[in-house]
Amino acid sequence: MARSILDVLDLSVEEIDDLIKLACDIIENPAKYAEVCHGKTLATLFYEPSTRTRLSFESAMYGLGGNVLGFSEANSSSAAKGESVADTARTVSCYADIIAMRHPKEGAPRVAAAHASVPVINAGDGGHNHPTQTLTDLLTIYREKGSFDNLTVGFCGDLKFGRTVHSLINALSRYTGIKIVLISPVELKLPSYVKKDVLKANNIEYVQTTDLEAVMPELDILYMTRVQRERFFNEEDYLRLKDSYILDPKKLVNAKQDLCIMHPLPRVNEISTAIDQDPRACYFKQVLNGKFIRMALMLRLLGIEV
Ligand code: NCD
Repeated sequence: MARSILDVLDLSVEEIDDLIKLACDIIENPAKYAEVCHGKTLATLFYEPSTRTRLSFESAMYGLGGNVLGFSEANSSSAAKGESVADTARTVSCYADIIAMRHPKEGAPRVAAAHASVPVINAGDGGHNHPTQTLTDLLTIYREKGSFDNLTVGFCGDLKFGRTVHSLINALSRYTGIKIVLISPVELKLPSYVKKDVLKANNIEYVQTTDLEAVMPELDILYMTRVQRERFFNEEDYLRLKDSYILDPKKLVNAKQDLCIMHPLPRVNEISTAIDQDPRACYFKQVLNGKFIRMALMLRLLGIEV
């Protein structure tokens, strides 16, 4: 079976370091990589909406000189006729050298990987995991802070359903001196399985609060997130919780001068556009980093040495 990436922990810390180095080299020398995937094809199988993840995968493959095919909604694929993820994965393995899959059901990319003969990359599965967003976030943190150790990282918003939060907490749990600050409404707290299996199991110092401003001065990184409307059971709860946190310039008064403000995007209301000009806003840098780290990941999974 080809090697797939379904969880960020499928990569060792050394492999993540290697991907970050490779991404930095691609950033500095894009021409060196422009044709290295000539003749290779990426398939993007997206059963859920996406702008950045799908387009960055596609742009990454084009940037390496390869080809792209796929679908961007379940309804335009045979899933609408009742085809299983397993059969779709076997089928697409006949057309592509690597697959990126997003699916609303937790675990669907794992099923695909078990039936595909080419590598499968999880591009987000339900409220579970999003390993390539995490690689994007790690590359951003590395480029802003130079290392992953001794950082106080605040996660704010929907920590219950936010898969990018779950994945990044997993990834950070392997570095030293990390402190995690969990800021959310009570109803959207980090699931207890993440607290138990990741934070407690790795002896990571963490606090939970509802008060963003109170913890702001401590933070090196503030990771804002959108309330995940599509995972709510009723619209009323969503409407009540959606504007729980809105980051605006007033809330940053006591923040560190070198705070790094991150967001996986899309943003709805969580960050006022007035913050976009602040040099601490890193969310559009994340978008660009996402393309380069996906280039690096696809090169490694395809076994292409440059
Ligand atoms: C995130 C996702 O899909 O989980 N978006 C992304 O991939 N950049 C975050 C979100 O949708 O809120």
